[in-house]
Amino acid sequence: MNYNKIDQKILDQLKHICGEENVVTDKEKLVDYTHDEYPYFEETYYPEIVVKPQNEKQVSEILRLANENLIPVTPRGAATGLAGGCVPLYGGIVLSLENMNKILEIDKQNFVVVAEAGVPLMKFFKEIEKEGLFFPPHPGDESAMIGGVVATNAGGARAVKYGVIRNFVRGIEVVLPNGEIINCGGKFIKNSAGYSLLNIFIGSEGTLGVITKAILSVVSPPKSLITLVVPFESIEQAIKTVPEVLKTGVIPMAIEFLELQPIILTEKLLNKTWPTKQGTAHLMFIIDAQNDEIALNSAETIASVCEQNNALEVFVADTQDKQQNILEIRSHLYESLKSMTVDILDVSVPAAKIPEFVETIHEIEKKYDIWLPTYGHAGDGNVHTHYMKAKFQDGELVPVEETKWKTLAEEVITQILKTGVSLGGTITGEHGVGIIKKKYMSLMYSPTYILLLKKLKQLFDPNNILNPGKII
Ligand code: LAC
Ligand code: ZN
Repeated sequence: MNYNKIDQKILDQLKHICGEENVVTDKEKLVDYTHDEYPYFEETYYPEIVVKPQNEKQVSEILRLANENLIPVTPRGAATGLAGGCVPLYGGIVLSLENMNKILEIDKQNFVVVAEAGVPLMKFFKEIEKEGLFFPPHPGDESAMIGGVVATNAGGARAVKYGVIRNFVRGIEVVLPNGEIINCGGKFIKNSAGYSLLNIFIGSEGTLGVITKAILSVVSPPKSLITLVVPFESIEQAIKTVPEVLKTGVIPMAIEFLELQPIILTEKLLNKTWPTKQGTAHLMFIIDAQNDEIALNSAETIASVCEQNNALEVFVADTQDKQQNILEIRSHLYESLKSMTVDILDVSVPAAKIPEFVETIHEIEKKYDIWLPTYGHAGDGNVHTHYMKAKFQDGELVPVEETKWKTLAEEVITQILKTGVSLGGTITGEHGVGIIKKKYMSLMYSPTYILLLKKLKQLFDPNNILNPGKII
């Protein structure tokens, strides 16, 4: 790719657009912008500069300048991604949206909130809670920013009942690579006016335009919550119970599955205790309802299905503290494994296919004599498998030989992804493609499909300056 470097003149122009204090060129500070939360990069990709615009007009001027001068631009939120989506592969400009962090409107009449791209989820949740509102999707890391979760079409644990981010985005403001600003969607619910550009930008990982604002749907909060933790002798037994629960018609907000080994590591990391150590695999249910009676009835239904399916116990967390403790351990599983993780997968299969998928993962684990800790969003079929460079022994992570894990990585990961696709699934359910999953796109898409994606990219970004090297 023949990109230009940032010379003194362009540097001065960028400083003029954003203000000197919002431009970073110091190498020691740039290092923070070389990675996201993906655990293992073989190379470090430095940007030449980081700019932190304050509004969409500045974003527009930056993009126009970069487009005219053929300088790559990588948009970035909180960098909580797990596929390298915001890593500046070709250097150039990192466009950080961290200064665009205002909630612009909480419209209670229409149940929508308008927020700038750099608003962290944590702040978003807090501010709308004060107004008696609730945002159902919950991508695990609450430091993630609105623009990023829209650009990745993030998911999280609550998708079983409520769906993913896409289902809650009504509108966006986007700056195109040539600097033009467009609006897609609005506060309305229905729209049949032609092709949905809104839905093309959602999940486009900053390759087609920079999302600067989002109009998001919100709802009234559930009045009653119960969390259940249910241990089983084996992962197969736990997973097979999930479709049985769903058949009852009770749809919990979340159905997660976890294996005991990562739970033990996470307890150590957080110095917290998980409610039970029985069995080898656990299901976790979060039930929400409009009153305590309905929540309790649902909990009883689920508990009885679990018992009929050989559950060893049903632990009920009915206080906020107990629920918070469980959720926190669940949310930190990734972190407890990260230091020894080479890749984290997020295959999503039709929910009823999870037992088959997880069984195959364990066969692969045995066949290669490796450790593939697996957990995830059982209720919606989204499974996280870590490809590790360590084994689990006596509560500790013990490194395996580098030649072994390096030789096997590609083969094992490809097998898992192919299994997911053959069961009617996708290679990534919520983390996105970024750099890491790019080489696997042909496992699930035909050449014609990929050609259409490439043409779409050319249409929006003919000079290929915006987040180049991602997705396709
Ligand atoms: C989770 C992240 C890894 O579900 O997606 O914990
Ligand atoms: Zn997840």
